[in-house]
Amino acid sequence: MSVRSPLTNFHAVAVTNPVVPPKPTLAVSSKAVFVLMSSVDADSFHGSPREPSAESPTQEIIYRHSGTVRWTHWINVLCILFLLGSGLNIFNAHPRLYWGRSGADSDHAIFSIGAVDRPDGVHGLTQVGPWQFDTTGVLGWSKTNGEYQARGWPSWLTIPSFQDLADARHWHILFAWILVFNGLLYVLYGLYARHLQRDIWPTIKDLKAIPSSIVDHIKLKHPVGEEAKRYNVLQRLAYLGVIILITSMVLTGLTMSPWFNAIFPYTLDLFGGRQSARTIHFLSATLIVLFFFVHVAEVFLAGPFNEIRSMLTGYYRVPRDDAARGPDTTEEKNG
Ligand code: HEM
Repeated sequence: MSVRSPLTNFHAVAVTNPVVPPKPTLAVSSKAVFVLMSSVDADSFHGSPREPSAESPTQEIIYRHSGTVRWTHWINVLCILFLLGSGLNIFNAHPRLYWGRSGADSDHAIFSIGAVDRPDGVHGLTQVGPWQFDTTGVLGWSKTNGEYQARGWPSWLTIPSFQDLADARHWHILFAWILVFNGLLYVLYGLYARHLQRDIWPTIKDLKAIPSSIVDHIKLKHPVGEEAKRYNVLQRLAYLGVIILITSMVLTGLTMSPWFNAIFPYTLDLFGGRQSARTIHFLSATLIVLFFFVHVAEVFLAGPFNEIRSMLTGYYRVPRDDAARGPDTTEEKNG
């Protein structure tokens, strides 16, 4: 019997042993790809229910992430990594940020990375608003192939590692368009399957639970039973936030492009000019990096094997809560 949880549309499948039931795999065969990509079920959360193999009093395995969510998630991760690396290389061509319509070396920068020659040697200097930091060795003045060089971001962070604006732009634009089409697929699927409305968008009840969810996170208390089958409010807000950040990154990126300005000149006014758009682009990317570290830390705190497996295969192991492990379960089993 396949069990649909009342709290969520994750499909629960009870098992007796901790072995994951048979499933579609990520093996690269056209059949497998078709199975994963076609698992859109407009009436369910993440794909179609699976037949159970048996029941377990301590845990159950649910089908948590549909093929479309899994594929678009990992393509998105790849795009973001390439976009960040190539973006930093592009940034190095002029490592200063301004606010407004124009910006040049003589204008006041709100953020800059540079190198200064001092009596005791060259130093890397990073300026954020009115503050300045000595960032020698990492930002402004760092080693490339064993030799110190004046460059904004260090070579180990940029794509390509050597300074090349044209190459970096090619990588950036390629992955930007993959990100756009992949993102559109995710959003359209998410709206069609009601995944965004049901599982990402927080309800009023969710929002009221923010304080208790923060306390649970601080105490590293992980949900069990029905509660573990749905995203908690902080997850919902983080995922919604990163979708907004990626949208902002795409819009500000397009706003910096002259062909886009020719078609939609008003986006320059919307963001307050090309230099403001560049600064917002950089800020959005910075917040995405912040999301990345918090997100990966949460994955590791919640149990990396179960979490990452669920994003690879779709299947997720949920510990039952004490009530579900009680005599009722046994009775049901015996019945
Ligand atoms: C910047 C890069 C990343 C972004 C923007 C991102 C974004 C997201 C989003 C939006 C979701 C929710 C998907 C949905 O249900 O619609 C998600 C879930 C998830 N992500 Fe990522 N992710 C990133 C990197 C990673 C990495 C590197 C890992 C692996 C360590 C990872 C592991 C997961 C897992 C396991 C889930 C499912 C969590 C659960 O079921 O509770 N993500 N991610």
